[in-house]
Amino acid sequence: MCGIVGYIGNKDAKEILLTGLERLEYRGYDSAGIYVMDKEGQGHLFKEKGRIAALRDKVDVSVDSTAGIGHTRWATHGVPSVINAHPHQSSSSRFTLVHNGVIENYHEVKDAFLEDSQLKSDTDTEVIVHLVAWYVEEEELTTLDAFRKAIVGLKGSYALALIDNEEPDVIYAAKNKSPLLLGTGEGFNVICSDAMAMIKETDQFIELMDGEVAVLTRNSITLENLAGEEISRDPYTAELDATDLEKGMYPFYMLKEIDEQPAVIRRIIQKYQDENEKLHLNSEVLDVITECDRIYIVAAGTSNHAGWIGKQLIEKIAHIPTEVHVASEFGYNMPILSDNPLFVFISQSGETADSRQVLVKVKEMGYKSLTITNVAGSTLSREADHTLLLHAGPEIAVASTKAYTAQIAVLAILSEVVGKAKGFTHESDMIQDLGIAANAIQSIVDNKEHIEQLASEYLSISRNAFYIGRSMDYYVSQEAALKLKEISYVQTEGFAAGELKHGTIALIEEGTPVIAIVTVESVAGHTRGNLQETQARGAHTMVMAMEGLDRPGDQIVIPRVNPLLSALVSVIPTQLLAYYCSLHRGNDVDKPRNLAKSVTVE
Ligand code: F6R
Repeated sequence: MCGIVGYIGNKDAKEILLTGLERLEYRGYDSAGIYVMDKEGQGHLFKEKGRIAALRDKVDVSVDSTAGIGHTRWATHGVPSVINAHPHQSSSSRFTLVHNGVIENYHEVKDAFLEDSQLKSDTDTEVIVHLVAWYVEEEELTTLDAFRKAIVGLKGSYALALIDNEEPDVIYAAKNKSPLLLGTGEGFNVICSDAMAMIKETDQFIELMDGEVAVLTRNSITLENLAGEEISRDPYTAELDATDLEKGMYPFYMLKEIDEQPAVIRRIIQKYQDENEKLHLNSEVLDVITECDRIYIVAAGTSNHAGWIGKQLIEKIAHIPTEVHVASEFGYNMPILSDNPLFVFISQSGETADSRQVLVKVKEMGYKSLTITNVAGSTLSREADHTLLLHAGPEIAVASTKAYTAQIAVLAILSEVVGKAKGFTHESDMIQDLGIAANAIQSIVDNKEHIEQLASEYLSISRNAFYIGRSMDYYVSQEAALKLKEISYVQTEGFAAGELKHGTIALIEEGTPVIAIVTVESVAGHTRGNLQETQARGAHTMVMAMEGLDRPGDQIVIPRVNPLLSALVSVIPTQLLAYYCSLHRGNDVDKPRNLAKSVTVE
């Protein structure tokens, strides 16, 4: 949430910052701003409410700048507005700062130090820049010492970049909990929340760690801890293909990412095969899973929904009892744990603060952890004992699609390899089954027109909708409902089909869309019965059934796959329904209101 960038070099800083912010827009798009230094050492501040495109229109193209910092905001403290947009400045405008994160003690800082300062915004951020100025002015510290002293007094999460007008050839940076990378190149250096932002400039990045301060000039990066002791760290090469970040011919990233799913599943199969083309896991990961007596999956949103499918797979194939928990609840309300638990964090971004607070706690308790993520080097990956990567390629649309199916595919492989290692065998071949699922997804995405028509017919004017199912189909219903509500704003519930009649069926009115997912043979008849009950009360019903369980008149028939993998396929029409519903309503499909992709605040 919120993205920050910085550049110091010889090229046009404002253009590099704006392009970087466009790449980070997924982290928030309530407002944006840049501060650039021109060649005469003069600073220029540009801020605008809304998207980066609006900021671009406001930036004076004639400013010849070679250093600067920028920010795209997801509002936490204070409404989206120009005043609350970053960068923020000290009273004299000597210091300018951008911040990603939340300062929990900003009231206390203000009361203790800044009674006489004129703060303009409602943000938690503004106190930081005033505090740096206060230390410089009142205690006559250098900017570096003042910056260090200011952050020692902060509680909360932050990634920060600071410019002092009196040192136009320096950018200061620091972090705690929120991610920050330093990119290096010939005659320039950069700062960014995510390598994606600066991959056009460099693929060489240094991770800044919590409790460290960085000083960047055109030709150097110096890292220090909070005691001022120098630290050395080599850069790594970011394995990001700049072309993966383009939309190409697609109108929206979400559609591109839906279409990429067959290729992602095939890539995952390849990545988890050994030289004998057998599925395998790194031996340390395999040991830690086979030795645990219970798995606790902790995740948020779509990743949590993938966790529920993972539970089915792990319990049915690897026979390890598995619990699934919502990250924001688990850390503050822990159940009684087993003797030898393994914590599995599922996270597309690897940055979700709700999941991270649980990871920090379970590490303190001495438990083992595994992160399943799309982003190598992300916070959850670095901080957990082990990582399994999704290999889904960058997911840019805020609504997660390919990461969800990738998570399920990786969980299926994990279950298969662990099950085998524990001596459980079964008839089917997971590589083949995943390949069949990839082909099934392909055939659905190749026939989108039918689903677009259904979206018009069922969802064009409705204010609410239901997905219902049982067993695996219930878990997919929850994901399907989340997708529809987050991008189309149709209030949708994903409901256990049998539970409707215990109260919620009261919400069914003439025309309410109710979509039943039917892929589990043992409960198919029951689900259809529950759908009938809603139809009898006026619902506009749709059935999405797996081949073999379909009946004449069903609106969507999905190809038959191993029932354990049905979620991989049944979720695809629901992603497309959400996409077309949002598109037909004229929404910004990739950037739905009020949301951001990487949720780095609790
Ligand atoms: C919905 C969506 C979110 C994320 C959730 C967790 O489409 O993407 O619900 O799944 O914010 O994010 P990650 O997976 O990055 O931990």
